[in-house]
Amino acid sequence: MALQHVLGLKCTVCGREHTLKETRYTCTACQSNTEVIYDYEIIKKKINRKKLARNRDYSVWRYAPFYPLASLKLIPPQQIGWTPLYHAVRLGGPIGLANLYIKDDGRNPSASFKDRASSVALVRALEDKAKLICGASTGNAASSLSCLTGGIGFRAIIFVPQSAPPAKIAQIMAFGAEIIMVKGNYDQAFDLCLQATAEFGWYNRNTGFNPFTREGKKSCSFEICEQLGWKVPDWVFVSVGDGNIISGIWKGFRDLKAAGFIDRLPKLAGVQSAQSSAIADAVARGGKLIPIRANTIADSISVDLPRDGAMAVRAITESGGAAVKVDDQEILEAIGTVARGCGVFGEPAGVTAYAGVEALAKQGKLKADDVCVAIITGNGLKDVASAAKVAGSPSIIEPTMDELRKLYAKSGERK
Ligand SMILES: Cc1ncc(COP(=O)(O)O)c(C=O)c1O
Ligand SMILES: [Zn+2]
Repeated sequence: MALQHVLGLKCTVCGREHTLKETRYTCTACQSNTEVIYDYEIIKKKINRKKLARNRDYSVWRYAPFYPLASLKLIPPQQIGWTPLYHAVRLGGPIGLANLYIKDDGRNPSASFKDRASSVALVRALEDKAKLICGASTGNAASSLSCLTGGIGFRAIIFVPQSAPPAKIAQIMAFGAEIIMVKGNYDQAFDLCLQATAEFGWYNRNTGFNPFTREGKKSCSFEICEQLGWKVPDWVFVSVGDGNIISGIWKGFRDLKAAGFIDRLPKLAGVQSAQSSAIADAVARGGKLIPIRANTIADSISVDLPRDGAMAVRAITESGGAAVKVDDQEILEAIGTVARGCGVFGEPAGVTAYAGVEALAKQGKLKADDVCVAIITGNGLKDVASAAKVAGSPSIIEPTMDELRKLYAKSGERK
């Protein structure tokens, strides 16, 4: 069977190892999240830098031997991943960074990073003979799951908090998933979805709880290294809510090192809103996670109890990186700064990573020639109301040259 490279699922807390048959999700002994473990010698036989250079598949599937999947027979049709990595000279210059890169993950099929996780988790569910897939989400994981299941006509049931932005709800509906709006917050939607899995046996994609979400998210690290010509960045900045993206990014770099593709690891900066900072607070107090009352405008990272918090704390501390808090105003301003500085439109949670770059640069923690990558995890069209708060308002005139002349005479720009 083609799953020989997968050794099993290892508990991230007590270390217990399970075969894929022993548990689908969490540790059977302590119920903590698990992590997929691999035989890297088998992976190395199937993939290396030279083989990748000849590979014309520019999507997450170019790294197939690194996933816990038996084959690529069941992959959805959309192009996921291989998003652009821009050397953002005009954005980095004013904050003293010559090598700032922006990874535009809003370019994925459902316009967020979450397609990386949904793709691998969905194919895993299909290989596991699941009848349907369910998931709870602040909005992006849900629209992603609806998009990818819609592409193959597979049934999905999605739980979202009532407060999810209308664009994300419209996406979920348009792609055809069954949607359940929970009168409560993300954490309550998440718990209800877990209960549904326990009672109905539905295959569950919940972030962190399902170990394969992290496996999909790691593809972004593979791309960053390959797009930089196999140079490992000094810093990678990630917006953090549940902490699953950052732990997936860390897994990706660790996988690459274990398979001999790179010889060092980057520092990871986990960036949170000060109004939703459970993970940054845990890092500050030495690792202990305490639930909070999250309330940030960056809806995708508004989380009371981070569902992959322990692994996120580990990613930040093991990498020697930093947990960064920014306030909501800085997040909103980052929407305009990133859009004008490098032409990438991000939603609030999407540009939070960049707000973290600014914060660390201000604190003098970044060297002028450090290679810094900020991942913009969601497209600005997901939440236009937030963008409108900082974008300014247009001039409104009658459709006459008279009015146009007046306008430009006033602003002194008429030549
Ligand atoms: C746009 C965006 N950025 C960042 C995140 C944070 O990811 P995580 O919850 O895994 O920390 C999310 C998660 O919903 C997201 O949608
Ligand atoms: Zn355990």
